[in-house]
Amino acid sequence: MKIAVYPGSFDPATNGHLDIIKRSGALFDKVIVAVLNNPNKKPLFSIKERMGILKKTCGNLENVEIDSFSGLLMDYAKSKNANTIVKGLRAVSDFEYELQMAHMNKKLNPDIETIFIMTSSKYSYLSSSLVKEVAQFGGCIRGLVPEIIEEDIYRRFKKVTV
Ligand code: PNS
Repeated sequence: MKIAVYPGSFDPATNGHLDIIKRSGALFDKVIVAVLNNPNKKPLFSIKERMGILKKTCGNLENVEIDSFSGLLMDYAKSKNANTIVKGLRAVSDFEYELQMAHMNKKLNPDIETIFIMTSSKYSYLSSSLVKEVAQFGGCIRGLVPEIIEEDIYRRFKKVTV
């Protein structure tokens, strides 16, 4: 059985992430979307919320599972019997860091391959961080994130002024 893990922070999931999830689902028997629980970061959405968004937006895909992990990706992938890590590549600027991680992960577990799926060109400039920055200053994020979370993103940036 070909099991892939698609790891990330997904804070929040963007339409670029969803595109990679759908396309990976067509390539593997099972795709586990694994949300990193990183205690060193202060996320906009909690782990539970990030998983909830992913479940609502791609939970209908039969062979896609949503999970979370902490610690090393390679340990998590092994625990799930995954043989592949899927990553999205947007541009050459992503490549250097991804290459470094792929080599390190290969050193940690030579049995697990990392493969890259090129992000659709319409999402090639998209990142969760940019979406948050635009939303924070009231810019339009329509079409960049799942519709169900648009309002919620804006709401989280609204500050109470007394
Ligand atoms: O969405 P992100 O934040 O770019 O995802 C980064 C992620 C989760 C893929 C990466 O930080 C990761 O794999 N973290 C787990 C810790 C780990 O295994 N570190 C060694 C990687 S070489």
